[in-house]
Order: sequence, then C-alpha cells, then structure tokens
Amino acid sequence: MTKRFAGKHVFVAGASSGINLGIAHGFAAEGAKLTVLSRSEEKIQAAARELRDAGAEALGIACDVRDYAGLEAAYAQAVAAFGKVDVLISGAAGNFLAPAVKLSANAFKTVVDIDLLGTFNVFRASWDHLAKPGASLIAITAGQAVHPMSFQIHACAAKAGVNMVTKCLALEWGPAGVRVNAISPGPIGDTEGMRRLADPEREKQIKGRLALRDYGEKRDIAEAALYLASPEAKYVTGTILNVDGGSDLGDAGANALAE
Ligand code: HXC
Ligand code: NAP
Repeated sequence: MTKRFAGKHVFVAGASSGINLGIAHGFAAEGAKLTVLSRSEEKIQAAARELRDAGAEALGIACDVRDYAGLEAAYAQAVAAFGKVDVLISGAAGNFLAPAVKLSANAFKTVVDIDLLGTFNVFRASWDHLAKPGASLIAITAGQAVHPMSFQIHACAAKAGVNMVTKCLALEWGPAGVRVNAISPGPIGDTEGMRRLADPEREKQIKGRLALRDYGEKRDIAEAALYLASPEAKYVTGTILNVDGGSDLGDAGANALAE
C-alpha cells in the first residue's frame, strides 16, 4: 500500500525531542522526507539519525527560531535537499514555572521570542519555499493560550499569540492554497513540558480533572498532525484542534475532588 506522505517534504521546527520529534516519526512512518531543526547541533543530528534509522530520508539543521536569517538559510538548505516544503510544523518552545514577581523582563521576553516570534519567523520565512497550492502549516500551541494559569504568564501570553498568528495567517495565505492550523496538546506523558510543569506526586489529581482521566501520548499528537496535513483536511484552516483528553473543558471542581 502506498504510504500517505510518500515523497512529501515535511519540515519540523523544534524537533530534537518530545512531541515534535514524535510528529516527525509519524510522518516518517508514512513515507515523508524530513527536515528537522532545533538549536542544538548534537541533539538535532541525533534526531535526524533516529529518523534515518527508522527508514526515512532526514536532514538535521541546527538553528534558533529567533534567528530569522538562520531560518532563511535553513529553508534554502532543506529545499535544495528535498524540494519545496509540503508540511511545516512550528513547535519550538521554552517554558518554566515562575511567579510574575520573580520573572525578569528578559525571562518573559525569552519565552515570547521562542514561542510567538519564533512561530512567526518559522512561518514567515517559509513563504518562498512552500509547495503552493497545497502546503499545510501547523503550529503547536497549548491550553495556556486560552486558560490563564498562575506562574505561566510568559507561556500563556506567548501561546495566545501563537493562536492569533495561526488564524491571521490562515486568512492571508488561504487564497494561495496554504492552510494554517494549530494543535493544542493536553498533558502528554514522558515529555520535557510535563517534567517542568507537573509535580509527579500530583499526577492522580491532574488526571482526575481530565474527562478521559489520563495523559496523552506523543502518538496522539502525531495522528492529529497527519490528519491536518492530509487531503482529508483540505477544507480545514484557521482551526485550533484540541488533542487534550478534555482538558479544555476545564472541570476544576467536584469531579476531580470526589475521586
Ligand atoms: C525564572 C528563568 C528561569 C526560571 C530561565 N530564566 N529559567 N527565570 N525561572 N526557571 C530566565 C533567565 O534568568 C534569563 O533572564 C532568561 O530567563 C533567559 O534565560 P536563558 O537561559 O538565557 O535563555 P535560553 O538559553 O534562551 O533558554 C530558554 C529557556 C530554557 C526557555 C529559559 O529553559 C530552554 O531552553 N527551554 C527549552 C526546552 C523547554 O522549555 N521545553 C518545554 C516546552 S513545554 P535574566 O533576567 O536572568 O537575563 C511547554 C509547555 C506547554 O511549552 C504546556 C504543557 C502542559
Ligand atoms: P521539548 O521536548 O522540550 O521540545 C521543545 C523543542 O524545541 C526541543 O526540540 C528544543 O530543542 C526546541 N527548541 C527550544 N527552543 C528553541 C529555539 N529557540 N529554536 C529552535 N528550537 C528550539 O518539549 P515538549 O514538551 O515535547 O513540547 C513540544 C511542544 O508541545 C511545545 O510547543 C510545547 O509548548 C507544546 N506542548 C507540550 C505539552 C506537553 O504536555 N509536553 C502540552 C501542550 C503543548 P533544542 O533544545 O535542541 O533547541
């Protein structure tokens, strides 16, 4: 059977680990050629090797999404290797828990620069390198974009911006046949994000607030990305797809406490 993304070029920013590397693996298993990008040369080359070991053609590029000129060079290199970009994932992010009163202006700016400006940069710099019409762009956002959270003012502000970048770009680039969507993962097990944000001792309590009562898997996010990038989603743009076990429903109350 022909693989669903055979011959397609999928570019994943922030792909040396976690959810985004999981997405890259999802596309690799469906026959795609992968460009993966992150800051660390060592980590991103290891990720590219991992994808090649899984049978995909894969190129690793070290670049910071805050470096616009670096991204332009990265796209030129990626397109020379694999042709125009069919699917583009923007998932680089930084996060930590910090009360606002302990957060320096530079700390706030750092997270906004990586998550929000980085997503703009990744998408904006791709324009001349996209396979148009038909390209599918996917930002990785979070529930923080719509639910205010203590000690997360930096990530909440940044991800709220990511949602708007997604929607505004969907409007502007739709006429060229470019779809722009976002995935909002809930708590995904075995990720750096959860290690930084969730105390393992509170796992039962956190799960108790989710309609589906469990953390998600990286594979769940990869499946959502495969759908959004597929021809089956050809009429879907500007949407924020929650893949979150019902986290967005926000049951802060009795249900969780009763268990
Ligand atoms: C307060 C902190 C801090 C902390 C850093 N800073 N960590 N402030 N509490 N824990 C401050 C520093 O003091 C500095 O401010 C400023 O932030 C920049 O720090 P740098 O170390 O120079 O930044 P940089 O090297 O660019 O690293 C970015 C980073 C780092 C975000 C700080 O943690 C990182 O590289 N993270 C990438 C991996 C990651 O976070 N993965 C999780 C993504 S998950 P001053 O004022 O001293 O100069 C995610 C969760 C979503 O997004 C939701 C899950 C449910
Ligand atoms: P992760 O493993 O730390 O992934 C973050 C990736 O971004 C890493 O590959 C990192 O690699 C790269 N990166 C960070 N800063 C960068 C920069 N300035 N330029 C280029 N690359 C950069 O974390 P994760 O938990 O899997 O999160 C992945 C995405 O899912 C993020 O967008 C996050 O907000 C979102 N999310 C996660 C969860 C969760 O439960 N984990 C929930 C909701 C949303 P380098 O260090 O090599 O640069």
